[in-house]
Formats: sequence, C-alpha cells, structure tokens
Amino acid sequence: MSLVFESNHPLVKQKVAALRAADTPPPAFRQLVRTLALLLGAEATVDLPIRPTTVRTPLGDAPGLELDGPVAIVPILRAGLGMADGLLDLIPEAQVWHIGLFRDEATLKPTEYYNKLPAHCRARVAMVVDPMLATGGSAVRACEILRDSGIRSIKFLCLIAAPEGIARLSEAMPDVPIHAGAVDDRLTDIGFIYPGLGDAGDRQFATG
Ligand code: PRP
Repeated sequence: MSLVFESNHPLVKQKVAALRAADTPPPAFRQLVRTLALLLGAEATVDLPIRPTTVRTPLGDAPGLELDGPVAIVPILRAGLGMADGLLDLIPEAQVWHIGLFRDEATLKPTEYYNKLPAHCRARVAMVVDPMLATGGSAVRACEILRDSGIRSIKFLCLIAAPEGIARLSEAMPDVPIHAGAVDDRLTDIGFIYPGLGDAGDRQFATG
C-alpha cells in the first residue's frame, strides 16, 4: 500500500476550492495549478537527498546543503504541463521528462503518444505530475515507463485524486507515495472525479 499524503495546508485547501469553481477562467486556473504544484512540491520533497557543502558569504564561510543528485519532473501531457511549471519554480535545475498519454473516452485506458525520456535516465528521484488521478491508469502507465527505464525512486503528485485511482496506483506501485491536494468522493460512471473540477487539460488550455 502506498503512502498517501492529502495536504492539510490552508493555502492548498483555499486554492483547490478556487480551482473547482466552474467560473474560474483559464488564466486564473493556470496560475492556481502552478502555485498548487509548488506548494505540494514543497511538501513532497521534505526527504529529498542532500549533501553538505560550504558557501562563501561576504564575511566568510557558512555551512550549506545542496541536492545530492539529479531530480526529474515527469509531466503527463498535457494537463501535467502546468504542474511542471510550478515544480520548476521550486527546483529550477530539475530535468523535465515528458510523457504523452491520453485516456480513451470509451475504455478509459491510457494510450501512449509521446515519450521524451533521455536515452540514459539518471535521477535520484522522479516526480510524476498530473492534476487528476481518476481511474489511475495513466499514473500507473507513467510509473511503469519510469521503472522500465531504471528509475527506482518515484513520487506521484496530483491536485485531486479519486479513491479508485489511489487504490489502483497503490496496488500496482506500492512504493510510490501519492501527494494529493484533495481526495474526492468517487468516480462518475464516465470516469470523471466527483465533485472534482471538470477536465483539467481543457480548463488550463481553454479547449473545453
Ligand atoms: C486526464 C488527466 C489524466 C487522466 C486521468 O487526461 O489529466 O492524465 O485523464 O485519468 P486516469 O486516472 O483515469 O488515467 P486526458 O486523457 O483527458 O488528457 P489531457 O491531459 O490531454 O487533457
């Protein structure tokens, strides 16, 4: 069973509520996605591997810390792009590995259409980002792709999760922690998270 972290940060709760509102327009929606990813990213990186270093201040030397090895941000296209921007605000030196998956509307199964992982994947930790964890099919597929590329440490970050998606990702990838802005009630019979926020890709990119 994966560790599941539902954020209790008041700003996360406030911003998730704003994200849900049907009258939040795409520019505000995109900004909320970006800031929420940064807030969730801060919570999800408390155990990031670090090593000691020394920095020269204007007055002398001070002990410091630096990241111990590369971090990869893995947005699931296309809705994950906005979250990747927020994580890059937090970890500007991170690599970004894009994975394109869309969910077949009839079967709800993910179809892979793009993969921009480097030829040799090297990351101490890979952070998969997608605003919505619905059935969990897309998240599981993205984690499988990373595992097949030799990545051991994976974290999954989403803005809203359905219990069904948490159960599926936990079962398939029990050592991948799940960080969610909110855990909602259920999936509808057409696979939408309820009450959710609608389609996160369409709302970010004004294609609804
Ligand atoms: C949505 C969402 C996830 C996926 C979640 O993407 O952003 O990637 O569906 O569903 P799942 O947990 O049941 O797999 P969508 O396929 O609509 O593509 P988009 O990001 O291009 O809008």
